[in-house]
Amino acid sequence: YRDLRVALLGCGSVGAQVARLLLEQGDELAARVGARLHLTGIAVRDLDAPRDVDLPRELFTTDAEQLVLGADIVVELMGGIETARELILRALESGADVVTANKALIAEHGPELADAAEQVGAQLSYEAAVAGAIPIIRPLRESLAGDHITRVLGIVNGSTNYILDRMDRFGDSAEDAMRVASELGYLEADPTLDVEGYDAAQKATILASIAFHTVVPVDAVYREGISGVTSAQIEAARHAGYVIKLLAIAERLTAADGTTGVSARVYPALISRDHPLAAVHGGKNAVFVEAEAAGELMFYGAGAGGVETASAVLGDLVSAARRHVIGGPGIPGSSHADLCVLPIGEVSTSY
Ligand code: NDP
Ligand code: HSE
Repeated sequence: YRDLRVALLGCGSVGAQVARLLLEQGDELAARVGARLHLTGIAVRDLDAPRDVDLPRELFTTDAEQLVLGADIVVELMGGIETARELILRALESGADVVTANKALIAEHGPELADAAEQVGAQLSYEAAVAGAIPIIRPLRESLAGDHITRVLGIVNGSTNYILDRMDRFGDSAEDAMRVASELGYLEADPTLDVEGYDAAQKATILASIAFHTVVPVDAVYREGISGVTSAQIEAARHAGYVIKLLAIAERLTAADGTTGVSARVYPALISRDHPLAAVHGGKNAVFVEAEAAGELMFYGAGAGGVETASAVLGDLVSAARRHVIGGPGIPGSSHADLCVLPIGEVSTSY
């Protein structure tokens, strides 16, 4: 196989897992892609910081700018806005494909970065930026591209879903539930981003823009967090047959003056207990899509977590890598087989 040079920016919860999987599954990925994903380096701030994963020390550098130069694919998992934006622009201008999980950056600068990618024919992908491991960006952008989406309802913030769910099902206080959410690592470094709905609003911007083929700026998203939700309100909702969930909603609406447009909003909403979103418990995420031809679809799973999010990042990375080897071996439909086929009768039938 030929080598594709992959530069990783960041080695925190997600980056460390991406690096581990890239190194552990190198042969398998090479066979699937038709090229070896060669991790050329990992940019961090502190070379001596403890890492979740034992990785070769020689991979680490504090010189992210240098690392980006000459990469075929750059994977940005640093977080933050300005430095990440500059590095991604630099990577795209050099013709590299970019994979990122940075929802704050995409919500703020997505159109600028997409333009930069388009100008050089590079690929910018960010499946992990919304709802962690759940494939939702690609289904909206590709699988449903021929349909007419009318509404997207998402539980896209795991920590607030965890807090509201504990209050609803176990009668926990908001403070206790928040403490456990923090221990589970669900909260952002600044928990206000979760609790006041900023994180969900960033994700709503991304979902709305893709689902409705437009640019929905983050400041056009109505935002209300869960800090005002009381145990008494949750109890009253339960008695009336509802559950309170922090929803990110994007829908096609017609305003009073007859103009049809997109409305995006994040707020604690009442959901009937019969609705599939009512069964999304704990820190899980789900996105419920309504489309004219497809009808109702629901995407459910882990919205956060290092290894879970790394799954979505690697999916984007494999997709970017395959672009480099079009016509080469190992692209979908190749004769390479990861596994044998078990004989009928050798499998369990209980689930
Ligand atoms: P962490 O805070 O755990 O890790 C950030 C990493 O980036 C650290 O290794 C840090 O280095 C490095 N870094 C930060 N700034 C710089 C810089 N200026 N130069 C070089 N390295 C830098 O973040 P996460 O892994 O949790 O998140 C990464 C991205 O993924 C974020 O955009 C986040 O929003 C997104 N995301 C995260 C999810 C999750 O569950 N964690 C889920 C979905 C998306 P050092 O270690 O030396 O400090
Ligand atoms: N703080 C975020 C959440 C992490 O609770 O969903 C994943 O984006």
